[in-house]
Amino acid sequence: MKQGVLVTGGTGYIGSHTVVELIEAGYEVIIVDNLSNSEESVIDGIEAITGVRPDFVKADCRDIVALEELFDKGKFNSIIHFAAAKAVGESVEKPLEYYHNNLLSLINIISLMRKYNVPNLVFSSSCTVYGQPDVLPATEQTPRLEAESPYGNTKRISEDIIRDSVKAYGTIKSIALRYFNPIGAHPSALIGELPRGVPNNLLPYVTQTAAGIREVLSIFGDDYNTPDGFCIRDYIDINDLAAAHVAALDRMIGSKMKESYEVFNIGTGRGVSTMEIVKTFEKVNDLNLNYRITGRRAGDIEAMWADPTYANEELGWYARKSLYETLRSAWKWQQRLSGLEISKD
Ligand code: NAD
Ligand code: UFG
Repeated sequence: MKQGVLVTGGTGYIGSHTVVELIEAGYEVIIVDNLSNSEESVIDGIEAITGVRPDFVKADCRDIVALEELFDKGKFNSIIHFAAAKAVGESVEKPLEYYHNNLLSLINIISLMRKYNVPNLVFSSSCTVYGQPDVLPATEQTPRLEAESPYGNTKRISEDIIRDSVKAYGTIKSIALRYFNPIGAHPSALIGELPRGVPNNLLPYVTQTAAGIREVLSIFGDDYNTPDGFCIRDYIDINDLAAAHVAALDRMIGSKMKESYEVFNIGTGRGVSTMEIVKTFEKVNDLNLNYRITGRRAGDIEAMWADPTYANEELGWYARKSLYETLRSAWKWQQRLSGLEISKD
């Protein structure tokens, strides 16, 4: 019989790609999302790719009564919890909304997992918990630093809530995945990232500039202590990131966990500078990007990349896509969104 998985935030960017991977791996998916940062039409894209239309329930994870109706039907024994608000800058302006949404949603989920004996939880964490480490690459043992934003703090506190709950209650197992920088789209260009308003993240800004929606890309700072002076990140293909969730679930369901709470870095292990992204994007998509170099962005860390060895060895998971493929997929998705002719591979 197929294993059922509840995916909160499943119409979002990472959630939707993960739902595709789950369906392709034979899981039965139920999505719950309040559509605060996504659209129901994403389900059409998932269906077009997989041939399967996942169950969808529009509900808010802060609403425990609505959530309980789902648990009551008993159709899943695992949860992947993506639902959260994620805009760093907005979280500084509206800290209570971020604590309320991100923490209450998680507390509701764990409370119902206890009540209904649902054992498996995969949680979306972030490399933001490491801040700027003294030593790179970051391993899972790299100390977590005080968060730089309320958003980052919700990830740190969420990890602690999960760790403590797993320890205290004994019925729940959990894997927290610390994502590095997810980019790109499904190669079909049927699903991808749907940023609202002016993007804060690099890739949607790059693709929107290439499409003429934004006039010019600002590259924030060229005077960092890095080989080319630009910031460095570990950009992970969204489809590879999605596959890590299937590996984590398989590990839990297959009783292969070494501890009841485990943490994995999900990155490529390669640090790439902002300028390398821009130049590679231009090259693989055969276009020129309008960009200018401006001052540093407040709060940016200089350099960050993962040591993914633990995930490689224990989850059997590897980042497989090349940066070329990923930046092609990002542009194809933008072409589709903008109604442009999608370039052929
Ligand atoms: P996203 O905004 O595209 O997806 C989140 C989804 O959750 C959206 O569809 C939104 O409508 C939904 N949602 C938000 N609050 C909800 C609530 N209370 N109830 C029900 N649904 C709710 O974001 P994403 O990039 O797919 O991120 C998914 C998860 O990964 C988040 O927890 C985010 O913090 C984490 N994460 C993202 C990144 C990144 O760079 N994208 C990096 C590290 C961690
Ligand atoms: N950048 C630019 N111009 C832009 C946007 C970004 O030069 O218009 C640069 C930034 O300065 C940074 C790099 O591109 O050096 C990446 O920036 P992003 O905003 O895409 O990503 P960050 O690493 O700063 O932050 C992201 C998420 C956070 C999350 C963090 C770690 O936005 O929520 O990754 O997962 F915490």
